[in-house]
Amino acid sequence: MAQTAALCFDMYGTLCDTSSVTRRLGEVLELPGVLVDAVDGTWRRKQLQYSYQAAQMDAYEPFWDLTRKALDYALAQYGLDPSPDERERIVEAYDHLSPYSDAAPTLERLGDAGYTVAVLSNGNPEMLDRLAENAGLAPHLDEIVSADEVSTFKPAPEVYENAAVRLGFDIEACRLVSANAWDAAGAGNAGMGVAWVNRRRDPPETIGPTPEIEVESLSGLPATLGVDD
Ligand code: LAC
Repeated sequence: MAQTAALCFDMYGTLCDTSSVTRRLGEVLELPGVLVDAVDGTWRRKQLQYSYQAAQMDAYEPFWDLTRKALDYALAQYGLDPSPDERERIVEAYDHLSPYSDAAPTLERLGDAGYTVAVLSNGNPEMLDRLAENAGLAPHLDEIVSADEVSTFKPAPEVYENAAVRLGFDIEACRLVSANAWDAAGAGNAGMGVAWVNRRRDPPETIGPTPEIEVESLSGLPATLGVDD
């Protein structure tokens, strides 16, 4: 196996915690928690489904737009009709997600150890730049690579291949770090190394290669990669 030179971190759910969005939904909609959770669940599933659908249909739209359209679907499914301004306030929560507490220290430690440290995300460049800045991650990143550059979405192989080209390494010398099992499978399928951050102790995907590294949190990654204190 090639020596890893570059680490490509997924953004949503890996470096940043998407549960901040649930809070914003609750504040704006002023509904009971169980209904907020239901809308939130549908929104998330639709967001992911729309990215798969757009890739399959070869009908790319920026992730921000798909996220907004997924919200519109979730609201309609529950008979909710907030104003355009309220909808905008909800989606804007994506610019202010909280980073996981171990995200910045882990990026910094791995960067200091000599790895090229990047984000590789389905988010479009503008939304990734805003979040990386707001979450305090930008100073620890060498690059932000967006699926937008190849007008499709992970887990399409082109997205991982483009990241390797952008970072200037063979794909085997790059490793995706993701909490999303489908993303881990996609990177492995494209020939990239994988470290799966399995926070919820989920079973691995049953399609695609099994991740060769599995950790329970980002803070477990440096030791697993042989980076000592
Ligand atoms: C990302 C999301 C989809 O690519 O997890 O950052």
